[in-house]
Amino acid sequence: MAEAFNDKILATEKAERYSELADEIASVLEGETDRTARMATVASMLANSFDHFFWTGFYVVDPRKGDELVVGPYQGTLGCLRIAFGRGVCGTAAAKRQTQLVPDVHAFPGHIACDGRSQSEVVVPVFDADGGLIAVLDVDSDRPAAFDAIDVEGLERILSQTFS
Ligand code: SME
Repeated sequence: MAEAFNDKILATEKAERYSELADEIASVLEGETDRTARMATVASMLANSFDHFFWTGFYVVDPRKGDELVVGPYQGTLGCLRIAFGRGVCGTAAAKRQTQLVPDVHAFPGHIACDGRSQSEVVVPVFDADGGLIAVLDVDSDRPAAFDAIDVEGLERILSQTFS
């Protein structure tokens, strides 16, 4: 229940919720191969599971450019449309192929402020079964330092089971 996950969600509760969510997502997506449908479902189910998620969605690698992300399925206020590799938190995660955990977006060089209310974020690269980068998942919070290692682990697990 969403009401149980307020400001001070307990670490154990949060880890348990990620684990349940991983099973729920796998069950909803069983037999569905369309990548957009899978991304839209993950974004919706994540956004509706945690109160600290303010903007939740995918930036997809544009196959025509190779080094640019274009916005994909998301839940939240209007997001920017395109982000070059290396720009902001999403572009850094894509260029380095590494998760970025940012407790204070204002301290991150080149952070792109799509919505001024964002205070902290986590961005996780998404790989296909061959290890190719297909997207990044961007989760922003309107609370400072909202994400920790439990979020990173939970999100990485859900993305790898869904797209790899
Ligand atoms: N937070 C991102 C920009 C995308 S939006 O906030 C939706 C970044 O700095 O990469």
